Amino acid sequence: MKQKNVTHLLATDLDGTLVGEQELTSALFKYYGERTYGVELVYVTGRHHDSTMELIKVENLPMPSILISDVGTEMYDFDDPELHERWKKTLEEQWRPEEISRIADQCSGLTPQSIPSSHRLSYFAEDEAAFEEVKQKLEENGVPHKLIFSSGRDVDILPPNAGKGEALSFLLHEKGWENANILIAGDSGNDRDMITMDYPAVVVGNCQDELKMLPEHPLIFRAENHCAGGIREAWEHFFEKKTVESNG
Ligand code: GLC
Ligand code: MG
Repeated sequence: MKQKNVTHLLATDLDGTLVGEQELTSALFKYYGERTYGVELVYVTGRHHDSTMELIKVENLPMPSILISDVGTEMYDFDDPELHERWKKTLEEQWRPEEISRIADQCSGLTPQSIPSSHRLSYFAEDEAAFEEVKQKLEENGVPHKLIFSSGRDVDILPPNAGKGEALSFLLHEKGWENANILIAGDSGNDRDMITMDYPAVVVGNCQDELKMLPEHPLIFRAENHCAGGIREAWEHFFEKKTVESNG
């Protein structure tokens, strides 16, 4: 298939990042519409496919060209259905859900989330101690996994080579988009691995505590503005720097 030439790309989380303040979301897309270049959209969310489609409809969001859902365990290219299969195949080898769920069931502070997803197990943690308990049990057992804690409540257990960052790297490589001007945006723990990928990234002003602790880095912009307002602020910071004319 012929590769699409992409010069600018926004890879963004939805809840609490692109979505949260409706006027700011519409203002961002209006701003993109006024650029001289196109902006390729990739949504990278913790939600599952159907729940994401519902959100896109309710919030009247533009359809992205790619959707990475389920905390980076599912990937939908609306022009190339096979991408999904290729990605899932890379996850299979190290995915042992029965063993993981047996371990998580021993932790009394975890309640399973009811989701249709096949390559992640997700729970609500009663408190941080419940998260620490499952973390320790998984480590002791040695079962391959990636564990993510978001918003002081959501616990996701994924194949070790999954997650938003790994999924996005795979996508950029497959599509040959690695050299585009890319901005990555997020607000909570499940966004950490894509925010620290060494591409320009933004942590929006309303972020969760777990992202406030990220070390300072020139490619990680901490926006003052909330949600899509923070994305716009970072976009200007990285890609629309005005050259100041010297008058001397
Ligand atoms: C979203 C998903 C949930 C997941 C959480 C954190 O809220 O709906 O299943 O645990 O993101 O990744
Ligand atoms: Mg979020």
